Amino acid sequence: MNSKQSKQTKSSTVGHFANTITRRDFLRLGLVATGAIVASKVAPVFAGRGTVTRYPLRIPPGASPYNNFALSAASGSVDLGGGRYSSVLAYNSYFPGPTFRANMGDEASINFTNGLSESTSVHWHGMIVPSEADGQPQDLVAPGASYSYHFPIIQRACLNWYHPHPHMETGKQVVLGLAGAFIINDAEEAALGLPSGAYEIPLIVRDVNFNSAGNIIYNPTSSGYLAKNPMVNGTRDPYLNVDTALYRFRVLNGASARLFKLALSNGALFNLIGNDGGLLETAVKVSQIEFSPGERLDLLVDFRGLPVGTTVTLQDLSAGWNLLEFRVTRQVSDNSTIPTALSTITKLSNPVTTRLFSFDGMTRINGKEYDMDRIDFQVPFGTTELWRFTTNGNAPHPVHIHGASFQVQSRTGGRGVLFPWERGWKDTVLLNDRETVDILIRFDGYQGRYLMHCHKLEHEDHGMMTNFEVV
Ligand code: C2O
Ligand code: CU
Ligand code: CU
Repeated sequence: MNSKQSKQTKSSTVGHFANTITRRDFLRLGLVATGAIVASKVAPVFAGRGTVTRYPLRIPPGASPYNNFALSAASGSVDLGGGRYSSVLAYNSYFPGPTFRANMGDEASINFTNGLSESTSVHWHGMIVPSEADGQPQDLVAPGASYSYHFPIIQRACLNWYHPHPHMETGKQVVLGLAGAFIINDAEEAALGLPSGAYEIPLIVRDVNFNSAGNIIYNPTSSGYLAKNPMVNGTRDPYLNVDTALYRFRVLNGASARLFKLALSNGALFNLIGNDGGLLETAVKVSQIEFSPGERLDLLVDFRGLPVGTTVTLQDLSAGWNLLEFRVTRQVSDNSTIPTALSTITKLSNPVTTRLFSFDGMTRINGKEYDMDRIDFQVPFGTTELWRFTTNGNAPHPVHIHGASFQVQSRTGGRGVLFPWERGWKDTVLLNDRETVDILIRFDGYQGRYLMHCHKLEHEDHGMMTNFEVV
């Protein structure tokens, strides 16, 4: 990161591309930032940390990923709340990046320009795309260069996300700000009439460290980047004004290494309706949800019946953090119902091959560190396989696979059970210490080279990643 940037600097300083491309973006950002500096009530926090002043939750702008949509990555400066500026790496000057929204069946086409001083790529985590659009470490975009990502949207409605994937640099680039949401819609989901518009809100939850000047720093230790402060949608100490209505929160664990255990401070239950790969078959009420880097949740939260003036906080029970304060500020009438039957999911079955993957130490899978020139195994297209993940320690290992979604079958050892948010379709599953997790997977999108890796970004960067080929 460019530490020479002062807190006051609001223009991009890296590369001529950055200067020309992002000046307009920063004007836009300035408007956003000005509007966001609003005096805030002081509210109590849990974990005995006294009081904290809160700032409006940033909602990233929406974007349509069509017609060579111009996406850039560049360094800049953003207001993290209350005029606390930090140097960041940002997509189109937004932190997090714009929220893409597309429909199943559409053709995405995004023209990416690298305004950073180092190579990067854009990986569409959860999207089933051809290898050449997958943003793999072999396919980096040099500083100043551009690359066109083209892919049809061939999967069901879900929340995916995009982030860089350069070998050994992913953790740093993501932590310094390069991440954004990518929402797919389809007809099945639309028919459910779920909360939308101002009632559907992406929440990118992560942790963050700052230096004394208030700039975000990437300072992982041997156990990874476990940072001291929570942050949601690039906002420190956020609040969100809510109506007495049903809300849909599209939640991403965008941290490098941290597990979050979500709960609501008033003891209300989450209505869990989906995860990485889209809707579950049925809605489930849960009081706590533990999820790991790269995993997503689709949650309905009901603020109906709460008096105006009530506050409810989204908490992380693991760290004792108040992640986000909801302030009930407006009485409306909302008659929407929470659907129970959501979707039909065809179960994968009868695997023809079993593969074992041991996540060893902090850097290896089956004893080997990642080598981008080595293909470790081949998987036949369109064939169901059972993949078994084990570890000898050093977890969490959030195991993530490119190129297909999978269905989790079982967990033995460790926590010993599957959780409601692990049903349906997944692309990332938490392998904790002493656990064995079985999944069924079938690649029926594309042939070509894909990756499996630990999504604890420090493990990924140090080699806990493998190439395979769908043939
Ligand atoms: Cu979210 Cu291969 O990564
Ligand atoms: Cu991915
Ligand atoms: Cu790991």
